[in-house]
Amino acid sequence: MSTPDSIRGLRSAMTLAEKASLMSGANFWNTKPVPRLGIPSIMLTDGPHGLRKQGGAADHLGLNDSLPATCFPPAVALATSWDASLLARVGAALGSEAAAERVSVLLGPGLNIKRNPLAGRNFEYFSEDPLVAGRLAAALIRGIQSRGVAASAKHFAVNSQETHRMSIDEIVDERALHEIYLEGFRIAVAEGDPWTVMSSYNRVNGTYANENVSLLRDVLRTSWGFDGLVVTDWGGNNDRVAGLVAGNALEMPSTDGVTDRVIIAAVESGTIDESVLDDRVEEMLRLIERTAPSPDAPAADLDAHHDLAVEAAENSLVLLRNENGILPLAPESGRIAVIGDFAAVPRYQGSGSSLVNPTRAETALDALRASALDVIGYEPGFARRDRPSARRLRRALRLAARADRVLLFLGLDESAEAEAVDRTHMRLAANQLQLTRELIALNVPIVVVLAGGAPVELPFADEVDAILNSSLAGQGGGRAVVRVLTGQVNPSGKLAESYPLRYADVPSSATFGRTEATSEHRESIYVGYRYFDKAGVSVRYPFGHGLSYTTFAYSDLIVGPAAADITVTNTGEVAGSEVVQLYIEAPDAADERFRAIRELRGFAKVALQPGEIKTVHIEYADHAFDIYDPVSGAWRTIGGEYTVLAAASSRDIRLRASIRVEGQGDLDLASGLEHYRSGHVDRVTDDEFQTLLGRELPPATWQSNRPLTRDDIVAQTKGRGGFASVLYSVIDRSSDVLMLLGRPHAANNTRFALDLPFRSIARMSGGAVNDAMLDALLVMVNGRFWRGARQLFAAWRAHRRARLSE
Ligand code: BGC
Repeated sequence: MSTPDSIRGLRSAMTLAEKASLMSGANFWNTKPVPRLGIPSIMLTDGPHGLRKQGGAADHLGLNDSLPATCFPPAVALATSWDASLLARVGAALGSEAAAERVSVLLGPGLNIKRNPLAGRNFEYFSEDPLVAGRLAAALIRGIQSRGVAASAKHFAVNSQETHRMSIDEIVDERALHEIYLEGFRIAVAEGDPWTVMSSYNRVNGTYANENVSLLRDVLRTSWGFDGLVVTDWGGNNDRVAGLVAGNALEMPSTDGVTDRVIIAAVESGTIDESVLDDRVEEMLRLIERTAPSPDAPAADLDAHHDLAVEAAENSLVLLRNENGILPLAPESGRIAVIGDFAAVPRYQGSGSSLVNPTRAETALDALRASALDVIGYEPGFARRDRPSARRLRRALRLAARADRVLLFLGLDESAEAEAVDRTHMRLAANQLQLTRELIALNVPIVVVLAGGAPVELPFADEVDAILNSSLAGQGGGRAVVRVLTGQVNPSGKLAESYPLRYADVPSSATFGRTEATSEHRESIYVGYRYFDKAGVSVRYPFGHGLSYTTFAYSDLIVGPAAADITVTNTGEVAGSEVVQLYIEAPDAADERFRAIRELRGFAKVALQPGEIKTVHIEYADHAFDIYDPVSGAWRTIGGEYTVLAAASSRDIRLRASIRVEGQGDLDLASGLEHYRSGHVDRVTDDEFQTLLGRELPPATWQSNRPLTRDDIVAQTKGRGGFASVLYSVIDRSSDVLMLLGRPHAANNTRFALDLPFRSIARMSGGAVNDAMLDALLVMVNGRFWRGARQLFAAWRAHRRARLSE
């Protein structure tokens, strides 16, 4: 199987049933072999920042155990390094751990755009900006695949929220779709060449991503030249034949052969031409060939990988604030009180399918105690999950009163961010805020170390002396934090997303996660800094912000037609690295044009010794001077006088130079769309959004007066009365019970059960539930309980008999 011809030959030797059998899983993580032709089964496992290979019971929610593996910093932290070469090394380490375990496909990276800070999986994603997301994802992909393991760029596309993620219809205009939501994937495909792409659960403008011919065929394959395989997200198949036609080959996990039979029937009845199946089968055979395990894949060097995890964390930590040089701390800094539960019980990854069983985990508290600092004590100060504890508070204040400095470890706890759940607010827990307020009143200098995979409101930011964002820094995070606090490492991370002052400032805040059937991206292209800058809204910390223990001077910005050169000098006393950002301002963007004021079009990270001077060369990204024209469905270069900015953040512009670009005149894409011109997209009216979309808005709410069908989701049982309501409450309340039983990860995932489409109950049961049983269940939830129950019993008996006779 080394040439396309041989793949074609192998495919033509296969029977229809064998071909169909390759199109879905054998079980949760493996595909089916075809022993007659020597086609092996391959294994796919999570995940983006560490291998999650399960030995025993399988699940995709982080519930059951997996083999120990290195937990690298999740994408939220890797992104703040802005260091593609580091990500390529992390990718290679991930790839070698996968190869050593005979895993063929690693299900990551995730690179959806952080549209809203409350989205539950933001910790698994890189940025609000597609260039950062796409470049860094590409580097990770190259690293993983350098070890003969396929990466899977996910979740394609517009998977902007967790709430109702398996059914939500993401309504987004063509321009935002291409410029914001698809652009990162385009870059990842162009620069990373992933061997697989995972389609997302959601619908995009009315059609499931996995059946979306426009996305999977026209954009991904025809326009971008993707030549790999599209795999569904787990349980993400809706209409098997429609998926196949659009370009989805592999459905995961197993459906007990049910959907293979659907494919066979479609070919036999002539509903689809067999050549459609053949194309998908060849994609599958090519993936198997590309990932053929090398017989001598070495065991992974877990010690070296732990060191790399520490190094990655060190390069990712972001120093948000440092007043009067309180950091770094030295032994002479005096008595240090360590306060905050996160110092001893670190959070370094999120919950869900990306949950890694780490080979070891270092806590900041242990590293502080082992340091030369005079640590006089530790107090947790608060209880996780916002449980009140006057005793903890009192003891922490008592400790702080004896100290010269307080190191305060705050953060989002495990219940706050997880797959399948969006956060409901952007605040830290009330007990953490109270502790912080009371510590501030003591007038002891305070250094806050923040943990969590997403922005939080920081009302105390101006009253503490320093804030170090440790984000979710992986298993080496504890050591990395202390090395930065003590100056052994000079922080060099920069935010890859804006930190708003308050949640209400986010343009999608009024509706995000609150709607039922659709999620309207009314803000269009104005996501993150593109909105805050255009609408003139102040932020707590801007996109691209991050401090250092040294200072950098920018000089001599020289702009050419394809790239710019900038000279950077380390003007301080310690070595450090600077992330130089290149933004481009469109002509008259600040005026009444439907364009962001400035957009990131290049970046580079440069390391400099004290006094050292280097010139960095940054090429302009593709489409640096273009907009996507929804009318012709193509990118257009808009001519005019642009400004190139060399910057230390989106709001710390150091140098400007202008450049003339040839192209056509600006397209008038906002005729009559006042808020898209002004950027005040928090005020977009129905009419404006409909005009932008060029169609009427579909209903945003569920219709509660019709019976539920296989395509509806379990959450739609809410408020319907009778058995439907009972079912809803049992699942909804099980979260509290699981929490009491000490299973926080399982508790988080009750949302997953509620958001499951009824059809997926059958598909994901591994054969335990069939469609007849499912239909009986639907009769029960639709108000005919006893009739449905009788039907269910009969269907179950028939199913059992059929399975026994197989
Ligand atoms: C997630 C994917 C993951 C898959 C397999 C799904 O629930 O959305 O990101 O790769 O499960 O665990």
